[in-house]
Formats: sequence, structure tokens, C-alpha cells
Amino acid sequence: MTIKPQILSCFLTVLVLSGCGSAASSGTTESEFDADAQLAYCADQTSKALKTIPDNGEIPRNIPPGLKQWNQVDYKDWTSGFWPGELWYLYEATGGKKWERNADKYTAYLKPLSVSPAIDHDLGFQVFNSYGNGFRLTRNPEYKDVLLKTADTLATLFNPKVGTILSWPREVPNMEWPQHNTIMDNMINLELLFWASKNGGSRSLYDMAVSHATVTMKNHFRPDYSSYHAVVYDKETGKRIKAVTHQGYSDSSMWARGQSWAIYGYTMVYRETKDPVFLDFAHKVTKVYLDRLPKDLIPYWDFDDPAIPNAPRDASAAAVVASALLELSTYTQDDDLAKQYVDKAVGMLSELSKNYQSRDKNTALLLHSTGHKPAGSEIDYSIIYADYYYVEALLRYKKLKEGQKKLLTYKSR
Ligand code: GLY
Repeated sequence: MTIKPQILSCFLTVLVLSGCGSAASSGTTESEFDADAQLAYCADQTSKALKTIPDNGEIPRNIPPGLKQWNQVDYKDWTSGFWPGELWYLYEATGGKKWERNADKYTAYLKPLSVSPAIDHDLGFQVFNSYGNGFRLTRNPEYKDVLLKTADTLATLFNPKVGTILSWPREVPNMEWPQHNTIMDNMINLELLFWASKNGGSRSLYDMAVSHATVTMKNHFRPDYSSYHAVVYDKETGKRIKAVTHQGYSDSSMWARGQSWAIYGYTMVYRETKDPVFLDFAHKVTKVYLDRLPKDLIPYWDFDDPAIPNAPRDASAAAVVASALLELSTYTQDDDLAKQYVDKAVGMLSELSKNYQSRDKNTALLLHSTGHKPAGSEIDYSIIYADYYYVEALLRYKKLKEGQKKLLTYKSR
């Protein structure tokens, strides 16, 4: 049988278009992705959660596979800011007073963090996601006060001899305490320092954040720009002692969420500093992640786990990266690259919305995140930070579509 050239050419065109033009393996294009419908789903699920979680002063953190009830934690837990942050985003998305009331209620649980000694670096995750979003949306001066005090508390962990913020001021396996440790996740906490330095806090907070990002850039990455999870420094000389993993598969592997923090973190540091060195770096740490993703754009928990494809996924890393890519696309002069970032982000969100939603299974937004695999903890769970970044990414996408180049950041006001 011979195939007519016109038919062959048509077939090839369809093949090429379906390969390049689609946002993901699912083939959802930008115009087909309905962020409003997804946000409605998020509001509906979270309304159900609000009706079922015990009102006991604690904050939802995770739901194990097959179960329906959220496990809750107190305000000291590193994840305590994500739930109030998600409620603030739903308030932003809907304007509904119910969301504002509940966001304010859960945000208030975190207030002691602003006046207690720092027990670790996560203060940015905790207080910027809760109070930071609350202040951005309401301008409540009490929220501002908590933010400024917490930034000063976080700054007590900065070691000028090393040039970074200490992540864990205590004995943690393999960290050679009392030497100085810094983990990749710590990049996210810098946003609180940048904000404080521009809103009445000391200029030194800005300098600390820039120093942290610069020293981390030098010591925390391999030649291919994949990241080590943790670096241990000599606390007196600042010399790097070793680069190791804590939550990843091995010291030489690329832990998915660690790399997602790098992508999100350097994008944010560029936003706050406008230093092109950080923008260039954000592109580089993004490239290695995108190049190595599976076809459906949702990473396995660690890119180098030999059990792949039978290894757990990490929906949380996908949500973090989707949100970061939308922001990074707005700083990119190269239109093709910007489009590629948006297409990938839409592909990730689309895949999450089609194959990772909790719907009837529980009241979280997403299934299949991995918390700490080497410790056997939170494997294939619904985890609150996946939900937080999912809603953030949906809101960012909506703003992008509405033509706002500045997304969900203080700079947009
Ligand atoms: N900050 C801890 C984590 O990403 O699991």
C-alpha cells in the first residue's frame, strides 16, 4: 500500500503539533485550562475541610493514603503557615468573608513565633505565608508588626562568618553540630527578610538575604546545577565541610523538592534584587529540572531513585515549580522561553488537576506528595504545602492571563 504524500504530510503535521503544541502529555493547551474551575474545586474542598477539622488550636498538615481526616500540628511545626496561607489565597480568589475570617483565625495561632527564640529557619515559610499574605491583602498593622519581629528573629540565625542563615540550630544526624548547616529549603525564608528590609526593618536584613543567596549559589550546586540538599560549613572559618542529602535518595541525587525550592527561591531573589546573576541562575536550576522530568511533568520524589518508574511521585514539587515558572516567565525577555515556561506550568497544573486531585478521597486538594522518604515519613500523602502552592499557581496563572506581569507579590501593589 502506498500513502499519498498529502496524507503523510497531514499525519506528520498532526504528530508534530501534538508533540510540541501541547502543554503536557495530557495535551491540555493554555486556552483549554480552566483556572476558575480549579479554584472553585479548591474552595469546595477547603470548605469541606473547614467543616470537619477539629477546632482545637491546631493546624492541618497531612492526610495519609486511604484516610479522610487531616493530621494536625501546632504552630511550631514547619508547615504551620501553609493552611492559613491557603485560606488567604482563597479569600483573594473569591473575596468571601468566610475565608478572611478563617484565615485570620489560623494566622493568629502563629503569633508566638514572632517573639520566641528561633528554633529553626522555617520562620519564613511559617510567618510569610500566613501573616505575609494576610498583610498583603488587608494591610492590618498588627500583621505587619508580627512580620517585622519575626524577620528579626530569623536574622538571629545568620552567621556572618559563613554568610548564610543556620537552618537547624541543634543536633541533626550527619550535620556535625555545632558546625553550621544550611539546607536548600532555606532559600524560601529569604522572602521575609527582603520584605522586612523594605517595610521598616533594617537594611541589614536585605544584605543577609543577598549574602545567603550568593553563598548558597556557590556551595550548594553541582556543575549541572542540580542541588545538594544540605551543606555543612565550618562555623568559624565559613569553609564548606561537606555537601550531603537529608531528605533525598543520596548525596549525589537530585531531590525533587529541594530543586523546586531552588527554582522558586532564585526566581524570588531576582524579583527582590533585580540582579541578573540571580535570574541567570534561576534559568539554570530550572533547566536541569525540566530536562529531566518524566513526560507527564510530575517528578518522582527524587530524580535518581533507581526504583523509578516504581517510585513515589511528589505532587508538592510539581506545584512549587508550576508557581515559580509562571513568575519566571514574566522576567524572561526571550518570548519563546517565556512561552515554554508557561506551557510547562500549565501542563503541570493540568496533570495535577486531572490525575492528582483528592476529590471524593479526602478534603485536601492534591494526592501523592512525598515528605521525607528516607525517614519513611509522609510517603504518597496529601500534604498541605502541595495544596498551598497549587492554589498560588492557579492564582498566578489567572493574573498572568489577565495581563498582569507582576503576579502575587508585594511588588504588584
Ligand atoms: N522544608 C522541608 C521540606 O521541604 O520537606
